[in-house]
Amino acid sequence: MTAVSRGVFVTLEGGEGAGKSTQIAAIARLASAVGREVVTCREPGGTLLGERLRAALFATAEGETPPAPAAELLVFTAARAQLVAEVIRPALDRGALVICDRFGDSTLAYQHYGRGLELPMVEAANRAATQGLVPDLTLLLDLAPEDGFQRGQRGLDYLEREDMEFHRRVRRGFLNLAAAEPERWLVLDATTPEMQITHTAWERIRGLLGT
Ligand code: TMP
Repeated sequence: MTAVSRGVFVTLEGGEGAGKSTQIAAIARLASAVGREVVTCREPGGTLLGERLRAALFATAEGETPPAPAAELLVFTAARAQLVAEVIRPALDRGALVICDRFGDSTLAYQHYGRGLELPMVEAANRAATQGLVPDLTLLLDLAPEDGFQRGQRGLDYLEREDMEFHRRVRRGFLNLAAAEPERWLVLDATTPEMQITHTAWERIRGLLGT
């Protein structure tokens, strides 16, 4: 994050069904209780344009032609560009704690490691979207894809319908990204009891908030 922002930016990453939403809700409650403004958001989405792009992407039904990998990349990053400009930057400038369900690391894990799009292209799209904004902390809720799908109760969208090998590449991608930048990432075993995960995450976030 650039030095001018007063807020703290935390992102959650991981495969399907790893429990990101539960953790975001729990951390937001804890941060609100210590009097901090908390802004939560999800990707893709979090703005009118972003939610429309999300709906368009995930309207892809079984049997329909799925988005081409490059189109998928540009839709996810377009939604991110809007979210950064409209929600995340202003909130950080106000001094808020921003907790985002997925961010640029999802694009690296899914579109580069998963789809196989070239790294420089994915990085360039991410840079355009984030304008250089990097999370202060990224929590990885690591889970074997087989377990994630057992936990998930929704109907599967076109990305979730990808084969297990795709989801294994995504998982390995997240773990590679975390290993490359250990000071930014906190890897958490998503099979650990929820309260324990919240406790470990909150200890780190408290340090960043200075409470
Ligand atoms: P979720 O709301 O269940 O996390 O679904 C978002 C889906 O979109 C999930 O399958 C991951 C995928 N995704 C990407 O492939 N690239 C991205 O940049 C983002 C933000 C999400």
